[in-house]
Amino acid sequence: MHVTRLTLNDFRSYPEADVRMEPGAVSFIGANGQGKTNLVEAIEYLSRLDSHRVSSDVPLVRAGTERAVVRAEVVRGDRTALLELEIIPGKSNRARINRGDLPRVRDLVGVLRTVTFSPGDLDLVKGDPSDRRHFLDALLVLRTPRLAGVKADYDRVLRQRNTLLKSAGRRRNVEVATLDIWDENLARLGGELVAQRLTLLDDLGPHLVEAHLRVAAGASANRRDVTAVYRSSTAMDAEERDQHAIAGVLLTEIGRRRGDELDRGISLVGPHRDEVVLSVGDLPAKGYASHGESWSLALALRLASFDLLRSEGDDPVLILDDVFAELDGGRRQQLAELVATAEQVLVTAAVAEDVPAELAGQRFEVRDGGVTRV
Ligand SMILES: Nc1ncnc2c1ncn2[C@@H]1O[C@H](COP(=O)(O)OP(=O)(O)O)[C@@H](O)[C@H]1O
Ligand SMILES: [Mg+2]
Repeated sequence: MHVTRLTLNDFRSYPEADVRMEPGAVSFIGANGQGKTNLVEAIEYLSRLDSHRVSSDVPLVRAGTERAVVRAEVVRGDRTALLELEIIPGKSNRARINRGDLPRVRDLVGVLRTVTFSPGDLDLVKGDPSDRRHFLDALLVLRTPRLAGVKADYDRVLRQRNTLLKSAGRRRNVEVATLDIWDENLARLGGELVAQRLTLLDDLGPHLVEAHLRVAAGASANRRDVTAVYRSSTAMDAEERDQHAIAGVLLTEIGRRRGDELDRGISLVGPHRDEVVLSVGDLPAKGYASHGESWSLALALRLASFDLLRSEGDDPVLILDDVFAELDGGRRQQLAELVATAEQVLVTAAVAEDVPAELAGQRFEVRDGGVTRV
């Protein structure tokens, strides 16, 4: 798929923007702070209702205004769709496809599929477990949009259960029947989420191994196999993939740890406590991999995501936000060659020289709030 037109109103720094794009490589060049990331972030947000740099939608709306509108024309095969999202912090956002209102905003998730590379991707390797959980869940909902609902329900149950644990712990007075209901909800939704994450990792694994070999080929070759292994907060059979069986394991563990949970006032069992352990050869990447090796692994995770989505449908739109300046010559060249076959690649860079020749494509200059074809 590819985006043929992006229009913004009061999104980030843009009072207005209207950019027509072609398939293939599209590059946005401009000095820091001119609004390059803001443009590609709008596309990413439309795709996932989430972006690589926000946790709330307040900063997405131009300072001093109340609502932002992002619109994109998206071509998939021989069909074109107009996707629209109105972002109104503090109220419900609204989404439309081809001018028809969607019953729920989250129905927009995954209609446009994107994979974004950004300098922050190093955190996939070096960061906290939450960075890797976020990676998995973001890919999960693009691949299977229905799971956006499961994830949202899980997060809500978790918040409400934590509130209950806190107040019950303080009063030392637990309404056991109430807590039981939350336990069951947490285990049921958690079981589905864990089962889906495990299946995703099973399917991503071969793509990850292959992507890592290809990325590392351009660097001082590191040909040891890379693995991504799920580590559950419970003693779960590593081969289990059945959501009901996993829910059962979670529920047992939740029961066992209730005392701890009341003492601490938080939920200690469930997918929000799980981790993905990345290893290269026999060593865990975190704490062992060098800077360059960590980059290879981070790029491989993104490339593998792209390959997996591509293998199950059409190409997602690739976004490379300011990554080339971060990479050494070998990885830069390797990445450029690997992504050059994508149906559309949106690249941002401070200077045109940072963009490898394969990806120069259609070029825009971003300056003083303007986006101009050059
Ligand atoms: N909600 C907002 N309202 C107004 N300006 C914003 C908003 N969010 C970000 N900006 C501005 O956008 C600019 C950063 O744009 P960005 O796309 O990140 O730049 P770059 O070209 O370096 O990628 C900054 O000047 C920042 O102040
Ligand atoms: Mg930027």
